[in-house]
Amino acid sequence: MLAVLDLKEEIFALKKSRNAVILAHNYQTGDIQDVADYVGDSLGLAYHAKATNADVIVFCGVHFMAETAKIVNPSKIVVLPDADAGCSLEQSCPADQLEAFLTENAHKNYYVIAYINCSGAVKALCDVICTSGNAVKIVNQAPQDRPILFVPDENLGAWVIEQTGRPMDLWKGNCYVHVEFTRDSIRKIKAEYPQALVVAHPECTQAVRLLADEVCSTEKMVTYCREAPVNDIIVVTESGMLHRLRKECPDKNLIAGPTDRCACADCRYMKMNTMEKLRNCLKNLSPRVEMEESLRARAEKPLLLMLEQSR
Ligand code: 13P
Ligand code: SF4
Repeated sequence: MLAVLDLKEEIFALKKSRNAVILAHNYQTGDIQDVADYVGDSLGLAYHAKATNADVIVFCGVHFMAETAKIVNPSKIVVLPDADAGCSLEQSCPADQLEAFLTENAHKNYYVIAYINCSGAVKALCDVICTSGNAVKIVNQAPQDRPILFVPDENLGAWVIEQTGRPMDLWKGNCYVHVEFTRDSIRKIKAEYPQALVVAHPECTQAVRLLADEVCSTEKMVTYCREAPVNDIIVVTESGMLHRLRKECPDKNLIAGPTDRCACADCRYMKMNTMEKLRNCLKNLSPRVEMEESLRARAEKPLLLMLEQSR
């Protein structure tokens, strides 16, 4: 217990001396969320990264999120606890493959919308970026006279098609955590809690989304659970979400299944970050996100358009 307190104090002292801000995604471990200045979804984190006056942004999340912070606020030092914290969606869409696809004659007219879970090099090839929190809004603002290619999440893309009625061609990528939830596992929990509402992330498959009362981003889950007219809510997403939800909605019974694993599961990348690594990155100002300027500027354009279109 004493060791944890010391580590926390060390983090707070370093944060002050570095004039740093700690931004954490909703999927980080509870101890990391508790020392962060802001905890939220990809969209909220991007806005905060852009707006901060701190000299150092410590990004507790996965690499593409820290990279996004550097893209929108390049004069800051951006560090992350573990530089190997990747994302299966980012890996499913390598920039060279997307570039080759887009240079084929039949694909040249695509308006390309990229889910923020992709590399800076992929962002630089796209017209606009979206997150799960604003994807419907962004697709609704796409030019009517061009076909849309949506990369890299086929499940989020399919959900947006259902919501907007706008046809899109989908890149075949997915989140390895969210596609593991099955209709049967959710039905089993529902049978145990017949009064419960189900909230699921749009990265889940359609079979799971069809069982949900609400499909939304991690930030919107907080509002949904707070305002839900029932006590029992089954949460279908990454397990770090439970910490945030239990803190913000203490009167609700937030259910992830008997082992906290049936409707919620760990993302191995998100869980690479630890309090020790957080302390070390503040101390050493490393690992740092660095980006070649012309690539950064190309990736910034579609990100700024997203921030403008989602207001
Ligand atoms: P949110 O933007 O909804 O937080 O989602 C990010 C993510 O990586 C989901 O797996
Ligand atoms: Fe990527 Fe899935 Fe982990 Fe989110 S939960 S960071 S989409 S692998």
